[in-house]
Amino acid sequence: MSKRFYITTAIDYVNGQPHLGHAYEKIIADVIARARRSLGQEVFFLTGLDEHGQKVQQAAQAEKKNPQEYCDALAADWQAFAKKLELTNNDFVRTTQPRHKEFVQATLAKLNDAGQFYKAGYTGFYSAKEETFLTEKDRLPDGSFDASYGEVVELKEDNYYFKLGAHQQWLIDYIEANPDFIAPSYRRNEVLGFLKNNTLEDLCISRPLARLNWGIPLPFDPEFVTYVWFDALVNYTSVAAAHGDPALGYQPSTLNSQLSLWPADIHVIGKDIVKFHAVYWPIMLKAMGLPLPKQILVHGWWQKDGAKISKSTGNVVDPIAVINEWGLDAFRFYVLRELDIGPDGNWTDAGFRSRYQAELANGLGNLVNRSLSMLKRYRNGVVPARSNELSEDVSKAAELCKTSLLQNELQAGLEWIWKAVARANQYVDQTAPFKLAKDPAQAQRLDEVLYNLVETCRVLAVALWPYLPGTASKIYAQLGLNESPDIFSKAKWGGLQPGQVIGELAPLFPRKDV
Ligand code: ME8
Ligand code: MG
Repeated sequence: MSKRFYITTAIDYVNGQPHLGHAYEKIIADVIARARRSLGQEVFFLTGLDEHGQKVQQAAQAEKKNPQEYCDALAADWQAFAKKLELTNNDFVRTTQPRHKEFVQATLAKLNDAGQFYKAGYTGFYSAKEETFLTEKDRLPDGSFDASYGEVVELKEDNYYFKLGAHQQWLIDYIEANPDFIAPSYRRNEVLGFLKNNTLEDLCISRPLARLNWGIPLPFDPEFVTYVWFDALVNYTSVAAAHGDPALGYQPSTLNSQLSLWPADIHVIGKDIVKFHAVYWPIMLKAMGLPLPKQILVHGWWQKDGAKISKSTGNVVDPIAVINEWGLDAFRFYVLRELDIGPDGNWTDAGFRSRYQAELANGLGNLVNRSLSMLKRYRNGVVPARSNELSEDVSKAAELCKTSLLQNELQAGLEWIWKAVARANQYVDQTAPFKLAKDPAQAQRLDEVLYNLVETCRVLAVALWPYLPGTASKIYAQLGLNESPDIFSKAKWGGLQPGQVIGELAPLFPRKDV
């Protein structure tokens, strides 16, 4: 049993409908998962939902539903959303699933037996919106808490604590010794700065039942449920355990597959939850006696028109509406091309339309459409003899795209593909096949030009597949190929055989009047 490349996303709070930020994160993970598969690795891609905690309980109460029914109804929407994005996730975790709860309880029992927890009185503040504890240090200069925390309530209650402080220096050393553990590097530096300038407070891992009942009961004290973040982080291992991963050293109550997953290769998360993943989670894993994930890959946040995305102000992008109007690949393209993994991004409808028009319709779409149309018109759709004029440029673009994909530089990978698109469109203008077609003495030259163009389309489809799988498949179908462009090694020049007859043509990105 070989270890799979294991990639995860954050699991989203199921307290509303998915938005642009959720879509973006899941698409990043999907592109990396597809790229790795295309390059021959066995991949396991996990996404899912975070269903416990006060935030979800309150959302259910507001709709006068019991929390499980509330979650079940929304989970159906989120799973449909994953399909809409054509995510290739291998599993979908919901933290209310028995397989997850069982493993969380086993983990808690084990850590409790090992003396990792203690019970103490807590006096402090809690933000249900961010499901996080706050201290005096979190107050703004004017004494208030940042508006992003929503309502902050003061709590006085007994709770269980997980001893974090003892591991602080170990974590600093680990992060320093493993420069790729947190990426991009400026996020790593922020975490190191935080760890070096603060004393870690122990993590409260429980909520008294009297205050919150929507959670996983502590196995050693029925008066408490598990703090939602402790529950949520464990999903990355509970799913591996449920698949019988021997690395977890755990016997699940039901088992129908045996996979080797842990440690995760990449946790894809947003910038707001770095502390949970880069501080709490490694220390939890250390206490559990498990190896750490190889990398925490942190993306930035989207705004719309320069302002925070917010349901209450109506400043939102509805991914489903965009996909219904423009197609999934136009949506995937925009978010991946516009925003590199790391900085914050800004969605504008004008920017979206402009990339659609310039890069998809006039760039890639036009290249494929005119190349294949000319082959159809001048050569009856039959691929002529091999020619290598664009081989070097296009092969180089595909190779650099591959390197970018392996380094999670998704935006750069697209830039390489579009360099080749520009090169090939320029080649059409320079060689003027419509002029060559008028001169019978130029027949061989026209053959060469046409081969170079259609083979460029094919190679680029292979490189494009992780990003825009639907478009890549359409290009293959239009080339008359009855196979899928999902194996990166096919991006080798010369794959298109002379005599091959192309298929039906249709514009990939219909122009829209705007
Ligand atoms: O934090 N732009 O869930 P969540 C980009 N349940 N990404 C965004 C975004 C935006 N505007 N808004 C949110 C949680 N995200 C926890 C995670 S993991 C064990 C538990 C990202 O629904 C956000 O950064 O609030 C996070 O990675 C993900 O969406 C889920 O956010
Ligand atoms: Mg959030």
